[in-house]
Amino acid sequence: MINASNIRAATESDLAALVQSLAPELARAQLKNRFTEQRAGFRLILVLEHKNELAGTISIDPGVDRDGFTHRLFALDVGQRFRRQGFATQLIRAVEEHVLADGHTTLRLDVAIDNTAAINLYKKLGYEPVGEPTRLQWSIQTDGGSSEVIVDTCQRMVKRLG
Ligand SMILES: CC(C)(COP(=O)(O)OP(=O)(O)OC[C@H]1O[C@@H](n2cnc3c(N)ncnc32)[C@H](O)[C@@H]1OP(=O)(O)O)[C@@H](O)C(=O)NCCC(=O)NCCS
Repeated sequence: MINASNIRAATESDLAALVQSLAPELARAQLKNRFTEQRAGFRLILVLEHKNELAGTISIDPGVDRDGFTHRLFALDVGQRFRRQGFATQLIRAVEEHVLADGHTTLRLDVAIDNTAAINLYKKLGYEPVGEPTRLQWSIQTDGGSSEVIVDTCQRMVKRLG
């Protein structure tokens, strides 16, 4: 359940508008892969509409931790020209509402320890670091048709909702 009128679940027809707002930081192939993963049930993608454009997006991992309560938010991206207008904050709030409405009470995320903007954002919204930073690895698709492995030292952060 999403209450914000400008935030909704994404459909594959949103791809072009997302590319327009998020390039060049995000490749089309990378965004397209998110929809492939959504189709496979690995994520739910939300988008935020602003003046007939898509200003940003966030994903919810539909799986929960072994505790049965903790969801994960990830792939939060706001287009460069839309930043510092509160859109990431709105997207995170929408995820929190969705997760609570689903009967779950905790959200977690992993953030690169050098991503000051994101760490400030999460702290401001009540997310707290848990445990020591660890090295995480994932791959992203490039428009050249290959994939690139990213390795980053990340901090886990958690918020108890409600
Ligand atoms: C991080 C990101 C999502 C923030 O989006 P945003 O819409 O600009 O964030 P908001 O406007 O909701 O910012 C809320 C608060 O976060 C913090 N913040 C956001 N951007 C910041 C920056 N560049 N530097 C320092 N603090 C920042 C501030 O506390 C801000 O409150 P303020 O504007 O009142 O000072 C955006 O910069 C982005 O897409 N970055 C690239 C992708 C990324 O790093 N995603 C997160 C991966 S974990």
